[in-house]
Amino acid sequence: METLAGKTAFITGGSTGIGLGMATTFARHDMNVVITDIRDDALTSAEQHLRQITERVLTLNVDSTDLDALASAAKAVERTFGPLHLLCNNAGVTGGAKVLDTPEERWRMTHEVNFWGPHNGIKVFLPGMLEHGEDAHIVNTASFSGIHGHGHQSGYGTSKFALVGLSEFLRNDLADTNVGVSVLCPHVVDTPIIKALKTRVSENVAQMIDAMAVAAETVGSQVVRAILANEFYVFCDGTQTRKMLEDRCQDMMAAMDRQFPKSQ
Ligand SMILES: NC(=O)c1ccc[n+]([C@@H]2O[C@H](COP(=O)([O-])OP(=O)(O)OC[C@H]3O[C@@H](n4cnc5c(N)ncnc54)[C@H](O)[C@@H]3O)[C@@H](O)[C@H]2O)c1
Repeated sequence: METLAGKTAFITGGSTGIGLGMATTFARHDMNVVITDIRDDALTSAEQHLRQITERVLTLNVDSTDLDALASAAKAVERTFGPLHLLCNNAGVTGGAKVLDTPEERWRMTHEVNFWGPHNGIKVFLPGMLEHGEDAHIVNTASFSGIHGHGHQSGYGTSKFALVGLSEFLRNDLADTNVGVSVLCPHVVDTPIIKALKTRVSENVAQMIDAMAVAAETVGSQVVRAILANEFYVFCDGTQTRKMLEDRCQDMMAAMDRQFPKSQ
C-alpha cells in the first residue's frame, strides 16, 4: 500500500496490547479504525483512547473463531466505512508447557484462536479485498515463537509456526495481486500477556523480560513501515532474536551440508 490515509483497517483482538498499539498508530495515520475483541470493558476503554485521535472508530464484540460473527462484522465495516484495505489478524492466546504436560483442551484452544482465527479472517475478508481492486494488505500476528522453537511452548508455539506457514503460502497465492501480506513476529512486547507472565517468574527473569520488551506502539510503527514497503517478515527487535535465528539457520545448513556435501 502506498498510503494509509482515508483507508480502513480491521484489527482483531484490538482492545489491548499489540492490537491497540497498531490501532493507535493507524489512527494517527488518518485511517478509519475497526477493532474487535471478546471483552466489552476492554473495547470501551480502547474506544475512548482511540477517539482522542479520531472520530472514525468502530468497535465490535467479535470472537475471531466464529466465522459467522466475522461475516456479520464484515457487513458492519462495509456499511460504516466502505471497502476494507487492511486486515490485521492479531487476536491470540498463550498456552504451552512441555508437550506431554499441556492438556489437549489447551492445544485445541491455542490452535483455534491463533491459527483458525486468522484463517477465518482471510476467508471472510480476502475475496472482497481482491474484488475491490484497491491497494490492500493483510498482517498476521504470529510470533518469534513461530520462527524459532525455544523453551516449552507446545500449543502456542506450534500454532504460531502454522500461522507463519499460512502467511508464506498466502504470499505465494497473492503475488501479482493488489493485496500484500506481512507476518508479524514479535519476541517480547510490553502488553497484558507479558505483564501476566512476569507474575509467574522470578524477579531476575522479570527484569530480563522488562529489558527485552518493546512498546506496543513501536510495533505499530514497525507494522506501518512494513505495509508501506510491502515487506513480508516483521521482526520487532534484532538483539537476542538475531543470534537465535542465526543458530537455527546454521543448524539446518549444517545438516544439509552433512547429508549433501557441496563437493558432490
Ligand atoms: N506480547 C508479546 O510479547 C507477544 C509476542 C509475540 C506474539 N504476540 C502475539 O501478539 C498478539 C497480541 O498479543 P498481546 O500481547 O497484545 O496480548 P493481549 O492479551 O493484550 O491482546 C490479545 C487480545 O486478543 C483478545 N482475544 C483473545 N481471544 C480472542 C478471540 N477468540 N477473538 C477476538 N479477540 C480475542 C483478548 O481479549 C485480548 O484483548 C497475539 O496473537 C500474541 O500471540 C505477543
